[in-house]
Amino acid sequence: MKKMLITGGAGFIGSHVTRLIVNKYPSYDIVNLDALTYAGNLENLKDIESAPNYTFVKGNITDSILMAKLFGQYSFDAVVHLAAESHVDRSINDPMAFAKTNILGTINLLNEAKRTWNGKWEGKRFYHVSTDEVYGTLGESGLFTENTPYNPNSPYSASKASSDHFVRAYGETYGLPYIISNCSNNYGPNQFPEKLIPLFINNIINNKPLPVYGDGNYTRDWLYVKDHASSIDLLFHEGKNSETYNIGGFNEWKNIDLVKLLCRIMDKKLQRISGTSEKLITFVKDRPGHDLRYAIDASKINQDLGWKPSVTFEEGLTKTIEWYLSNEVWLKSVTSGDYQNYYTKQYN
Ligand code: NAD
Ligand code: DAU
Repeated sequence: MKKMLITGGAGFIGSHVTRLIVNKYPSYDIVNLDALTYAGNLENLKDIESAPNYTFVKGNITDSILMAKLFGQYSFDAVVHLAAESHVDRSINDPMAFAKTNILGTINLLNEAKRTWNGKWEGKRFYHVSTDEVYGTLGESGLFTENTPYNPNSPYSASKASSDHFVRAYGETYGLPYIISNCSNNYGPNQFPEKLIPLFINNIINNKPLPVYGDGNYTRDWLYVKDHASSIDLLFHEGKNSETYNIGGFNEWKNIDLVKLLCRIMDKKLQRISGTSEKLITFVKDRPGHDLRYAIDASKINQDLGWKPSVTFEEGLTKTIEWYLSNEVWLKSVTSGDYQNYYTKQYN
């Protein structure tokens, strides 16, 4: 029996984590707190919205009065914190929004957990979902381990690094029981089409240019979102307090190679002549401060808890493409209105 607060549960990863926990643990009371920013969407959770162990609350993690009210009302003994501003390009245009949500919002949650739990740490846990971007960039070789020094390069990664430091500091200073996980790039259903894979899927569907930043020789390690959700479930229940865990897909791809693979699968799915989508590739101005390469050493979670990704990249990518092709209404609704303004500002 747990009373769990999940933050950011209407977003991409949050919706997969929330669904997994709601379905797997009927005895838990789960509250999903989400501000429903442009990235949050209750359509992502339609199938569980009336589950008896699930409640949605619209609200902002920076709102300390609301936080006190919710902790008072539900007596949470666990927090799984995913709410964040998550897109690097947006952080370059508006760093303050990232500082407010990612740093101040996290401190606000930590304060309320600390105040409510009041030194009675038994059975309590604050799980902070973070990113591999806090480590900065790798050269052509090497992997991020849990001991790699933090060296964030974008306003987004700087704000996530800061939030990680605050979580750790609440553990060291006050004894708050916490776990931090740092994961690589996720992909899968329900991802907002501002990130590479869903943006390019949407553009291929609509025969629009595929804007590859710089020369495309940047490398990311990709993990299917449901595998990330399963690792969070495992770490939340079986991880050790005060530890950090790296999570990754053992699956490095140069952007340009990934985009070409995506084009090939899309041509088949859309029954277009082979090579049609590749013609849409357009090299555009690079992202400022663009990290060259991320790659995760996920041996700790593998050796300590036996976790490893369950789907291959080709399987995961195919499932992802199929989801976007059969959820046209979702895709159209999230790419109308403000999305068009964002797109014009970012790419024109
Ligand atoms: P997302 O942008 O899809 O979703 C973020 C969610 O948080 C949205 O539902 C949004 O409405 C909500 N939110 C934003 N600001 C809020 C606020 N002030 N108060 C309450 N809710 C707010 O993000 P995502 O890709 O699902 O990422 C989730 C978490 O995982 C983030 O902490 C991110 O840093 C981390 N992460 C993401 C990836 C990735 O590849 N996407 C990889 C590693 C770690
Ligand atoms: O590594 C984990 C991180 O992965 C998460 O913490 C972030 O929340 C998530 O957004 C993601 O960050 P990236 O910057 O790596 O993801 P994005 O999809 O924005 O970009 C992936 C790569 O593709 C990156 O090298 C930039 C490039 N890119 C991206 C876009 C949107 C392009 O070439 N063109 C584009 O239009």
